[in-house]
Amino acid sequence: MAVNASWWRDAVIYEVYIRSLADGSGDGVGDIAGIRSRLPYLRDLGVDAVWITPWYPSPMVDGGYDVANYRDIDPLFGTLAEAETLIGEVHGHGMRLIVDLVPNHSSDQHPWFREALAAGPGSPQRARYVFRDGNGPDQPPNDWRSVFGGPAWTQVPGGQWYLHLFAPEQPDLNWDNPQVREEFEDILRFWLDRGVDGFRVDVAHGLIKHPDLPDLGSAQEDMVHSPDRTDHPHWDRDGVHDIFRSWRRVADSYGDDRMFVAEAWVSKPERLARYVRSDELQTAFNFDFLRCSWAADSLRSVVDSCLHAMHAVGAPTTWVLSNHDVTRHLTRYGRPRTRAEGPLHDIVEPADIELGTRRARAAVLLMLALPGSAYLYQGEELGLEEVEDLPEDVLQDPTWQRSGHKVRGRDGCRVPLPWRGSRPPFGFCREQVRPWLPQPAHWQARTAEAEEAEPESMWGLYRAALRIRRAHPALGDGTLSWVDAPAEVLVFRREPGLLCVVNLSDTPFALPGHERVLLSSEQMQNGKLSTDTAAWLQV
Ligand code: GLC
Repeated sequence: MAVNASWWRDAVIYEVYIRSLADGSGDGVGDIAGIRSRLPYLRDLGVDAVWITPWYPSPMVDGGYDVANYRDIDPLFGTLAEAETLIGEVHGHGMRLIVDLVPNHSSDQHPWFREALAAGPGSPQRARYVFRDGNGPDQPPNDWRSVFGGPAWTQVPGGQWYLHLFAPEQPDLNWDNPQVREEFEDILRFWLDRGVDGFRVDVAHGLIKHPDLPDLGSAQEDMVHSPDRTDHPHWDRDGVHDIFRSWRRVADSYGDDRMFVAEAWVSKPERLARYVRSDELQTAFNFDFLRCSWAADSLRSVVDSCLHAMHAVGAPTTWVLSNHDVTRHLTRYGRPRTRAEGPLHDIVEPADIELGTRRARAAVLLMLALPGSAYLYQGEELGLEEVEDLPEDVLQDPTWQRSGHKVRGRDGCRVPLPWRGSRPPFGFCREQVRPWLPQPAHWQARTAEAEEAEPESMWGLYRAALRIRRAHPALGDGTLSWVDAPAEVLVFRREPGLLCVVNLSDTPFALPGHERVLLSSEQMQNGKLSTDTAAWLQV
C-alpha cells in the first residue's frame, strides 16, 4: 500500500454491516467470504476503506455487539485465518480495513462474566464489571435505563445487580479496573499485529461511570439524543479521555497510519472535539450532521460548528448520513420531519420515497464536497430505503423485545443487500436459502447489477462523485468558504476552483458563473438547479 500517514483525514469509508452485505457460506447470513467476493465492487465504487461491524464470537443478541471473545471470529462469519486473508486482500485492492471494537460491555457469555457470576460478591472477578447491591429488596441500585428500553440493571442469583446500559446480555465492563484496561490494550495489539488499519470504537462516550452511580432522574434513555448536561453519570465523562490517550500510544507504536474513529453521541461539537485532541483518537463520527434536518440554515450551522470545533484541535471533520443504528436517510428525508431519531423512536411518519431519493442524491454531493472524511453505509449507494414493513416475527433488534413490542428497532436499515437478479434473495445468498431478514420484492430495480447498467442510478452518482473527489485537488481535507446566496440555498467554495451548490428552496436557482458542471444530482433545467438538487461546478 502507498504510505500516506494521514489517509484518514479525507478518506471515504464504507460501513459493512457484516450480516447483510453478502453470504458466501449459504446460511442466509452475510460473512467474510461474502465480503471477499464484493471487494472488487467496493474498489470500483471508489471507497478508500472498509469498516466491518463486529465479527467476533457472539451469541448475536445485539448483532455481534455482544462479544464473547475479542480475539477470534464467529463461525457464522468465518475463521481467523479467513479474516487475515481478507485484511491482505483489502490492502491488495488499495483499500484499508477498520474493525469494530466494543469496549463498553462484553457478552454475558464472555468467560469473565461467567467467572464473575460464579465467584460471588466482593470477588476480583466481579470487580471487572459493575456489580452492586440493590436499594432494598427487588430495588435496583439506581434509576438508570437501558438504551434498548427497561431498567439498566439485572439481578443475579445471590441478590446483587449488574449494570447494562444496553441489553441484559451486554454487561458493562468496569473501566476503573486496571485489568480491563490491560486487556483492551492487548486486544488492540492482537488486531494491529494482524494488519488492521484502524478501530471504530463502540459507545466511546460510555466507558466511565460516576463512582457513586447517582440517580439520573429521567424515565427514558436515548443514545442518539444524549442529554445536554455536564456531569452526566454515564455519558461523556472526563475519565474516558485517559483511556483513549493510552490507546493512542498503543496504535502509534505501530506507525503513524493506524487510526481510531469514535462513536460518541455527545451534546455538542466542542464535546466531540475532546475525543480527537492530538494525543487521543484521530477521528469521531459527526452525528450532528446525521441528526440534522434537511433545511439550509440547520445544515449550514452544523457544518460551521463542526468544522470550527474540529479545527480548534487540528482534527478533520467526518460526515455521515446513515448507519446500522438509524433510519436510512433516504426515508428520513422523505418524511415531514427530516431530523434523525434514535433507536427508541416509535413515531413513524410515512415517507415519500421519491422525494427522499431526490434529497439523498443532493445530500451525498453536499457531504462529499465538505472538508474532511466521509462514511457511507452499505446500500445507500443503491438508493435503498428503510424497510418499514418487516413482519413482526422476523424482528431481531433487542429493542423490539425490550420495549414490550412497542418499538420495532433497527432491523429496517439492516436488510440484506440486493446484488442481482429479479427476485429475492437477489444474489445476497444462494437461491434456495432465505436471507436472515426478508428483502422487498421491488428491490429488483435496486440491485447493484441493475444500477451498474444505468448511469443515472444512485450507484452511478456515487461512483461519479467518488471519482471526481479522488481526482479534484479541491476536494477532501481542507477548508471551505461560504458564498452569498439566498437563505435556502447552500453555496460554498473549495479551493482551488470548485463550487458546491445545494438548492433547498422551493424555486429553481440559477447557477452562479462557472466554467463547467462537474456533476449534478439531477438534470439541470435551463441552467437552473431545481428544488432539492445539488451540483459541483468548476469555476
Ligand atoms: C453501538 C452500535 C449499536 C449497538 C450498541 C451497543 O451504538 O452501533 O449497534 O447496539 O453500540 O453495543
